[in-house]
Amino acid sequence: MLKIRNKIFSNKKVYIESYGCQMNFSDSEIVSSILLKEGFDHTKTVENADLILINTCSIREKAEENIRKRLSFFNSLKKKNNNLKIGVLGCMAERLKEKLLHEEKVVDLVAGPDSYRNLPDLIKKTSKGYKSIDTKLSKVETYDDIIPHHFDSNNITGLISIMRGCDNMCSFCVVPFTRGRERSRNPNSIVKEAKGLFEKGFREVTLLGQNVDSYRWSRFSNNKKDLEKLQNDSESISFSNLLEMVALIDPDLRIRFSTSHPKDITDDVLHVIKKYENICNYIHLPAQSGNNRILKLMNRTYTREWYLNKINSIRNIVGDNCGISSDFISGFCSETNKEHKDTLSLMDHIKYDYSYTFSYSEREGTMAERKFSDDIPDNIKQKRLSELIIKQRKHSFYRNKLCVNKTYKVLIEGLSKKSENNFKGRNSENKMIVFPKEKYNIGDYVNVKVLNCNSATLFGKILN
Ligand code: SAH
Ligand code: SF4
Ligand code: F3S
Repeated sequence: MLKIRNKIFSNKKVYIESYGCQMNFSDSEIVSSILLKEGFDHTKTVENADLILINTCSIREKAEENIRKRLSFFNSLKKKNNNLKIGVLGCMAERLKEKLLHEEKVVDLVAGPDSYRNLPDLIKKTSKGYKSIDTKLSKVETYDDIIPHHFDSNNITGLISIMRGCDNMCSFCVVPFTRGRERSRNPNSIVKEAKGLFEKGFREVTLLGQNVDSYRWSRFSNNKKDLEKLQNDSESISFSNLLEMVALIDPDLRIRFSTSHPKDITDDVLHVIKKYENICNYIHLPAQSGNNRILKLMNRTYTREWYLNKINSIRNIVGDNCGISSDFISGFCSETNKEHKDTLSLMDHIKYDYSYTFSYSEREGTMAERKFSDDIPDNIKQKRLSELIIKQRKHSFYRNKLCVNKTYKVLIEGLSKKSENNFKGRNSENKMIVFPKEKYNIGDYVNVKVLNCNSATLFGKILN
């Protein structure tokens, strides 16, 4: 059976393009691995492809618009190559299902995030001239036996999915609909994958999930709903246990993780970060808003005071220098100017190292779309957004200036974008540092003294 498949797909080239969060980039590596096994070769040149797969994001309207533009470009390639097939993967595939095949005639194949094992069969169907689709979501799929193919990696920093789906139902968010129920991956397969990466020369792994702090795995089940019933399993593995297991692989393997949810991050996790030098001192802790009424409407299930308490715990347990970043949404349903000012004051209070800021984009099917009105005019959303951006830039500069004259252990990740004479790499706190290249190699750790900075980057020199 396998031999026949190999014949079908040998000499065929696949081109994969990814959008959205790191989970999608990690999924594309799983997809690539599945297809390579079936005889496909990878190409980085879209014009050479027999199959183009686009792994999509639905988080905001704009993300989907960009993907539709890309599809119309792929249509122009199809006109030059009759045999070219186009597949849409990921969150937009899951959200739109058959509608995508009707709306975008260029698309031959639609596969949701839990259907990638089925891709070889779906592709076979398209080669017979049919359209194919699979958007079933799974309660158990974690792809834990598939070793990702790192086709677009620097081979130093890698992504590892530790869980899939999300059960949180933040009222603005489409992810629970596109990614399904939360489930955790077997910790032994996570450790095996991280070890494998380290042996290949990788020096950093980022453990990924929409809400990593609710990771919990029991040998009886990986489904969170069952786990609630199985809480008596004293051997179940929590996120802090998992962090420790990965940290013990090798002191030279750095560990990062994303995303933490303020309601779930525990002091246990903070103590483990403190205990292991190779677990990075950096936490992405999205606040979304600094106002309690808005947080309630968003169904974030914490208050401003709870959030500030978590920040205090981070500063007390991990340390004042711990890098902290956030996500914020401007102009959520019914947000008043005063409530927006509460977000600005939260930022002033915390002085984040970095924030990702977005203006609210209504998503079909979410609680916010069903229950509230998207009533903040676009110009006000944009005005508030720019106030968040300006505030953050000021704080990033402030936090970066605190690093000047300090020395950090930096993992060299590559050459700086602007000059081949400079290396770039990050310190444990996730700050990007650019410094003159010396006799070292990409993948080495070096001590770098920071001499200067702007709001985005630190500049330094290697201390020998
Ligand atoms: N699981 C992660 C976030 C995933 S989405 C978490 O809980 O933090 C990344 C960010 O996109 C969110 O934190 C939020 O700030 C933003 N976002 C999500 N839905 C959005 C929407 N409908 N409009 C604008 N921004 C949105
Ligand atoms: Fe979306 Fe909330 Fe889940 Fe994050 S935690 S993916 S914002 S529902
Ligand atoms: Fe986008 Fe899906 Fe990630 S909607 S942000 S690609 S989980």
